[in-house]
Amino acid sequence: MKITLVTTAPELIEHPRIKKEAQQLGHQFSLVNITDFGYTITDNKLKLSHLSNLNCDIAIFRAIFHSIKSMVPIARQLRKKGIKIFDNNLIKHQYSINKVSDLIKLATHHIPQPNTHFTRNLTDYQQIIPTLSYPQILKLTKTGKGAGVYKLNSPTDFRSTLKHLDKSSDANKRFILQDFIPYTHDLRILIIGRKSFTMQRIPPPDDFRANFSLGGTVKSFNPSPETIKLARKALSAIDLTIGGVDVLLAPDKRQYVLEVNHTPGMVGMETATKKNITKHYLKHVIKHAK
Ligand SMILES: Nc1ncnc2c1ncn2[C@@H]1O[C@H](COP(=O)(O)OP(=O)(O)O)[C@@H](O)[C@H]1O
Ligand SMILES: [Mg+2]
Repeated sequence: MKITLVTTAPELIEHPRIKKEAQQLGHQFSLVNITDFGYTITDNKLKLSHLSNLNCDIAIFRAIFHSIKSMVPIARQLRKKGIKIFDNNLIKHQYSINKVSDLIKLATHHIPQPNTHFTRNLTDYQQIIPTLSYPQILKLTKTGKGAGVYKLNSPTDFRSTLKHLDKSSDANKRFILQDFIPYTHDLRILIIGRKSFTMQRIPPPDDFRANFSLGGTVKSFNPSPETIKLARKALSAIDLTIGGVDVLLAPDKRQYVLEVNHTPGMVGMETATKKNITKHYLKHVIKHAK
């Protein structure tokens, strides 16, 4: 079978892994980098950069961080031409990294999460400063992998951060605010269809963020059935078949879902669990592409 992976992030370490495993399963693999996506329409004929002459059986849309809306009619057209698409519901939801709407979905599905505030009006935050418990966690809505996640230790800390953000770019004015959970375990549960893999992430010294990409260490973890159940509920609230669910376990044994990653990394989990997760991923993709 000919498999093509379409992405705006060719540099992700998962992509050479997917290539290697696809070839090991006996498939031909190619990667189409649409970082500089564009098109021409000449005499009513549409020509897409990179995608017009796609010749494959399955196209995987993975890690598409821009041009998502343009991909919708393109994927439909590819399907008409007989190419099967696997997109982890990207096209259905047209999401980008959108923490704000995902937290609403989690809340409406009664998934426990830390107490959270979001407003587009910075002066609203001014008003709640004295009412909050500290530390608070401030998360910029546009970033990921731990970048743009800050700890505010006191009302003074919060006020000076607000002043700083007020002078900064518009993107830095959008953030959510969350109670800090003094967690005993920061878990990542990677769900691929019916299979799940769990690792504990331990933050580097002097940091509270346990992201693998920030130098957190990872180790395999045997989660309780309740944790798996919660992670599955969170994934289904966001309506994905593949996702990376971040769960904090608190000292009082409560569990909190922080987020569901739409394009979860797999290499950190392979390191932790010593399992060939990329192979499971590809088998899932091949089975569910349509
Ligand atoms: N409310 C919180 N309490 C304690 N630690 C948190 C909280 N929110 C985030 N963190 C820490 O920061 C990390 C990154 O936060 P997360 O919400 O997963 O955003 P990102 O998309 O940047 O990974 C988490 O894995 C966790 O270690
Ligand atoms: Mg995270």
